[in-house]
Amino acid sequence: MTNNYKINKNHAYTSHNLRYFVGNWKMFGDFNSFKIVRKIENFHLKFRKKHKKCKIILCVPNILISFFKKKIKSKSVFLGAQNCSRYTEQGPFTGSVSASMLKKAGAEFVILGHSENRKEGESPQLIKKKIYSALRKNLTVIFCIGETAKEKKQGKTIKVLFNQIKKSLDKKFNLKKIIIAYEPVWSIGTGKTPSSKDLIKINAAIKFMFIKIFKINPPKVLYGGSVNDKNIFFFSKQTPFFDGFLIGGASQSSKKFIDIMRKYYT
Ligand code: PGA
Repeated sequence: MTNNYKINKNHAYTSHNLRYFVGNWKMFGDFNSFKIVRKIENFHLKFRKKHKKCKIILCVPNILISFFKKKIKSKSVFLGAQNCSRYTEQGPFTGSVSASMLKKAGAEFVILGHSENRKEGESPQLIKKKIYSALRKNLTVIFCIGETAKEKKQGKTIKVLFNQIKKSLDKKFNLKKIIIAYEPVWSIGTGKTPSSKDLIKINAAIKFMFIKIFKINPPKVLYGGSVNDKNIFFFSKQTPFFDGFLIGGASQSSKKFIDIMRKYYT
């Protein structure tokens, strides 16, 4: 399919007004970090009067989910996890946490397929099992895909993304509960970001793949990789069709995260 793939810029455009600001805290935070959540929550409560269409999801370490859930006062900040077990039911899986446990703790989202986990050995087949398990427990999956620097250099980006989608998603899944996060591996934590031309092309390609392979409306597509309060202006003006952002390092600071949202809308 990638051979006869024709880029149609129109596929990139989104019909949704809703914008997602997803924080990926990675291995960061403790119980005191609730002050970050509180500041973000307070900001959003005031802010959403003006910008109702923005959704905040903080994907925090598992041990913080239920603690934060109890302390969040409003329905304006959602919680997510950063991975889950492939197994849905309890059992002899030392160190694993199931989608069901995450759901009970208060998570509504889970990041799966992150390149940092792929690097640790997660295969597309394993990611598929995890996605299935998360969807069964009614978590919304933020499914990360992205090419390495080498693959980009070889001009393989679209092919890589296509394979990642094809190998880890299934027609039988509830694909409405999948959000795609396009995260070029070379961009994560490096300060480098793709050109707007590439972003338009890739966004269109991802949406087109969904129409073509699964015959469904395109999913929401987020961008992730070195998003910060300085370059958010670029993303809001030059590539306004992304449905939101997956923000790593900058989400560990309430100020930076708030500035990203503020600047996106100015
Ligand atoms: P970054 O991370 O924003 O620090 O580049 C993004 C991610 O890994 O999700």
